[in-house]
Amino acid sequence: MTSTLTTHGTATTPAEHTPREGAFGNATELRCRECGSTIPLGAHYACLECFGPLEVAYEYPAITREQIEAGPRNIWRYAALLPVPADVASFPNTEPGLTRLVRAGNLAAELGLSTLWVKDDSGNPTHSFKDRVVAVALTAARELGFQVLACPSTGNLANAVAAAAARAGIRSVVLVPQDLEQQKIITTAVYGGTLVAVEGTYDDVNRLASEIAGEEEGWAFVNVNVRPYYAEGSKTLAYEIAEQLGWRLPDQIVVPVASGAQLVKIDKGIRELIDLGLVEDKPVKIYGAQATGCAPVATAFKEGHDVVAPVRPATLAKSLAIGNPADGPYVLDVCRRTGGTVEDVTDEQVVDGIALLARTEGIFGETAGGVTIATLQKLIETGQLDPSLETVVINSGDGLKTLDAVAGRVGPKATIKPTYEAFTEAGLA
Ligand SMILES: Cc1ncc(COP(=O)(O)O)c(C=O)c1O
Repeated sequence: MTSTLTTHGTATTPAEHTPREGAFGNATELRCRECGSTIPLGAHYACLECFGPLEVAYEYPAITREQIEAGPRNIWRYAALLPVPADVASFPNTEPGLTRLVRAGNLAAELGLSTLWVKDDSGNPTHSFKDRVVAVALTAARELGFQVLACPSTGNLANAVAAAAARAGIRSVVLVPQDLEQQKIITTAVYGGTLVAVEGTYDDVNRLASEIAGEEEGWAFVNVNVRPYYAEGSKTLAYEIAEQLGWRLPDQIVVPVASGAQLVKIDKGIRELIDLGLVEDKPVKIYGAQATGCAPVATAFKEGHDVVAPVRPATLAKSLAIGNPADGPYVLDVCRRTGGTVEDVTDEQVVDGIALLARTEGIFGETAGGVTIATLQKLIETGQLDPSLETVVINSGDGLKTLDAVAGRVGPKATIKPTYEAFTEAGLA
């Protein structure tokens, strides 16, 4: 691959680097999601014809459930459906995936749903679904010869990039808005990369990252200049849900939305499973969940627009605070096509959602999880989601990262002297 410098969609990859034979597995090319133009696999992220976003296209292999089940106990069991080499599992990575799918009977009863599952992605190595996308992006960055792993982040991606780079033995550079939760700052800094707090919103940080990506040769910004590869990691959520349900699809899935990439790729993963004959064909409604303080996609959905007007975020759900979501229009397409909707909930409802999931299922989700649970509740109450259908909600991150959201709400029932008398006097027996 030659190094090309442009401001539109071609990263500055290290000169003279040639990817290994089979570096991208069964991926064949990059395809523009707008005009359909194709471009060879490489460090490109925007179409050279129309500047539309690129995604990975494949020559899909014939693959069986048994072959997948015999694979590693992480996302690499689906390597044949990702832009990664066959020997991907032999390189150091964080090995995310195969997080638990929890049958949420208590929460279902409380919400009046017949069957509910929580896909609990807080169980990943850095406690969010971002480990999935970063594992694929790190692989692509290595095959393309990049030396630094970088990202703009709303917090969880920062954790995932810093950890993956540490394990791979390369430098990381992570840019975050300066008002991020302390827990996410510390749990990123601990991995030892370069963490930079930027005075601005995530959208400002993202713009800065794009500028740096155009200047610094050899820096892979996972969600900017290797974005087509990165985004494919979220397909594994769909694969795992189907496999964990015994190779079948649920009726509906509720997904949190920031850039929207996760939701769009879950839909892509579902369609691949059907096309490959790994699951029976059936409709799966996909619903998007946003916080009212940053709900550009929900607003566009409700107003019937195809374009998403940017907003300035003001919500405690900081991980979802992207005011100008790259995949917003595609989220609208997916939700309209599948019969789902996009809904939003207030910050108070978000905290209620966190508490509800914790109280009913013993799962402590972060604010994004609160958004998703509260949205599920609102979708049922407003008749937008059929409670008699089998439903999956994604809990995409861990509540320990956003403790402040609930700190004012919960605490000890009483503070007592260490005697049984004090215990009974406080009315605790
Ligand atoms: C915990 C969590 N859930 C969901 C999302 C939304 O992901 P996407 O940007 O792919 O829509 C994010 C984004 O940072 C996140 O951190």
